[in-house]
Amino acid sequence: MLDKGNLFIKNSSEIVTCSGFKAKRGKEMSDLKVIPNGGLVIENGIIKAVGDTRKISENFKEENYQVIDASGKSVLPGFVDSHTHLVFGGYRAEEFCWRLNGTSYMDIMQRGGGILNTVKATRAASKEELYHEGLKRLDSMLSFGVTTVEGKSGYGLDCETEIKQLEVMEKLDSAHPISIVKTFLGAHAVPEEYKGEEDKFIDFIITKVLPIVVERKLAEFCDVFCEKNVFSLEQSRSLLLEAKKRGLKLKLHADEIVQFGGAELAAELGAVSADHLLKASETGIKEISKAGVVATLLPGTAFSLKEPYPKARDMIEKECAVALATDMNPGSCFTESIPLIFALATIYMNMTVEETVTALTINGAAALNREETIGSIDLGKQGDVVILEFPSYQYIPYHIGVSCVEKVIKKGRVVFDKKGKNKLYVD
Ligand code: NIG
Ligand code: FE
Repeated sequence: MLDKGNLFIKNSSEIVTCSGFKAKRGKEMSDLKVIPNGGLVIENGIIKAVGDTRKISENFKEENYQVIDASGKSVLPGFVDSHTHLVFGGYRAEEFCWRLNGTSYMDIMQRGGGILNTVKATRAASKEELYHEGLKRLDSMLSFGVTTVEGKSGYGLDCETEIKQLEVMEKLDSAHPISIVKTFLGAHAVPEEYKGEEDKFIDFIITKVLPIVVERKLAEFCDVFCEKNVFSLEQSRSLLLEAKKRGLKLKLHADEIVQFGGAELAAELGAVSADHLLKASETGIKEISKAGVVATLLPGTAFSLKEPYPKARDMIEKECAVALATDMNPGSCFTESIPLIFALATIYMNMTVEETVTALTINGAAALNREETIGSIDLGKQGDVVILEFPSYQYIPYHIGVSCVEKVIKKGRVVFDKKGKNKLYVD
């Protein structure tokens, strides 16, 4: 939908390039490759020049571009939220209150609430309703500086509704400035009609739903909620192997509630990412590091479920590539807030601000297999950037829970401006 823009950003206090074309592991996560007095040129949506403003000005004439004077402001790559469940019907505020009173997430799920509650509402919702709710969530994400987001199905658990969710994401992707990467999560829970027949349900997903998803190119990734009392390692393996055979890339909800061998399975199958990992074993962490699987950590979920945080420091010491994402969903973590993720990662997970920025940019891109085209400010990459209202990236976690994003640029066009009276998609 979006026209591609020609933009010249000059005099920024710094450009935080996060430069690189592959995931950053271990110590590499600390080097943001910052350019002071940064200038940036985007032509036809693609980054054409980045460096000291004086040098850039010698080679590029301002009159050919929309010019932004970013004096006193920091410029970063657009954030990549690489794990969300953004299209769903209904809400579960009541369950949230039950959890505050001590009922566990899994107890609610086993009583037919949780994911199955959202499944009912999503099956009942029209495409239009899902689309309009989705748009609102994307607008909220955009205001936090997100320029690419991953979205999963998984609230249908039948052929029709799984496809409906993926089609809604397709439409949202073409209507909204944020790019959406789609994931098929048909094995998110066992629906009522297959209760006690998990193997039969997996077989249904493999033989009836997956082929349509692949044939109609409705998703790029396949994911499974591999967890005790949900889908076993064997069930997860059989679905993911079939998905891989059919050309989908893999993700896994791994070791979220109990230690279950999900990280090991992600490594065995060569998944692009293993997500959650709150309870991942030492061996599992070593194996995903060795296999080059991105460890996608979702601290908002640990916070909301009052669970211990994933061991980010341990993972970084073991040379993992760590990404961070919101997990935005109606149950375990209902938030689009990037500032919240910054606060939790830096304050509770002991990640440095630099590691956190890397985890939400180039490593988020790597978790979506897009490290060569987005996630950093490098020549030839897509012109997706954010401009902060402060001079340094350090202000992001420092301004606790509040967004410092002043402007969002997608493919060289200003698509959000905080000062434009909250107007979205401004030009
Ligand atoms: O990532 N754990 C499974 N899926 C989501 C929660 C979905 C929901 O509760 O609706 C998660 O936590
Ligand atoms: Fe999730």
